Amino acid sequence: MTTSRSSIRLILQMAYKKLAHLDSARLDAELLLAHILSVPRSHFYTWPDETVDAKQYSRFLVLLEKRSMHYPLAYLTGKREFWSLELTVNESVLIPRPETELLVEKALQLLSTNCFCEKPRVLDLGTGSGAIVCALAKERPDIFLLGVDKSEAALALAKQNAHSLALPNIEFICTSWFQGVRGPFDMIVSNPPYIDSEDKHLGEGGLRYEPIAALVADNAGMGDLCHICQNASHYLKVEGWLLLEHGWQQGARVRSLMRENGFGSIASYCDLAGHERVTLGQVLSVSDNE
Ligand SMILES: C[S@@+](CC[C@H](N)C(=O)[O-])C[C@H]1O[C@@H](n2cnc3c(N)ncnc32)[C@H](O)[C@@H]1O
Repeated sequence: MTTSRSSIRLILQMAYKKLAHLDSARLDAELLLAHILSVPRSHFYTWPDETVDAKQYSRFLVLLEKRSMHYPLAYLTGKREFWSLELTVNESVLIPRPETELLVEKALQLLSTNCFCEKPRVLDLGTGSGAIVCALAKERPDIFLLGVDKSEAALALAKQNAHSLALPNIEFICTSWFQGVRGPFDMIVSNPPYIDSEDKHLGEGGLRYEPIAALVADNAGMGDLCHICQNASHYLKVEGWLLLEHGWQQGARVRSLMRENGFGSIASYCDLAGHERVTLGQVLSVSDNE
């Protein structure tokens, strides 16, 4: 049995066993202990025989127990890295995913290749932790960004992230999608909820701890994607861009929605797993429509 008088080495060995059913057992155990001790993981390799104090040890056991039940590591440490930014996260927001970095990458490419007469304006619908707006603001301090979410708790966290990352070029409003939003924008980006409420994965692993309102949309997961495609062109300038993240099997339907709603130059892009994940389209000019 390990106690607070045990060495870091023994505590970690116990923790690896406790998390053995997780793919990331070693990493998770080390990250949790590093979080509790406020040290980098490298500390454990340099000082494996150090002991931890009783309070820290019992806090570690609590986190370890939760992690063993698939509670997300990011909620336990309160941190998640996205686009090389350290974001604060809690249960009120979706944990930012690496796939969403593809959306940021495509947005940045379009912002750098298009000419804008004035300061570009970008709207992020369903901003959550503020992951997308913060990444864009970090790369492009010269643009204006507006982050929208219907969750006040999520918005409070997004504001906190923008503040601690010293990103003054973002504003936030609490509303449902476009309600009360004043356009026009040069670009709208969104990673809306897109999971079917019947999807069995919702009851598995870490997903069951994330806010359901951030995950699930009606109409088999297409409801919010559809609403955004139907309304976005009213809030975009002519030749403005809409970029949407979606489920890996929703690419074709999102392309059709964009086509039906007056977008051109439509293209989908795959994430690192090879799944269609981001689709973008441009508001056609009047002459394009003729
Ligand atoms: C999939 S999460 C995306 C969070 C963040 N943008 C990211 O990529 O990590 C979807 C977000 O949309 C928000 N949301 C859901 N319905 C909404 C609505 N009707 N209006 C505005 N935001 C909404 C949720 O609160 C959640 O924060």
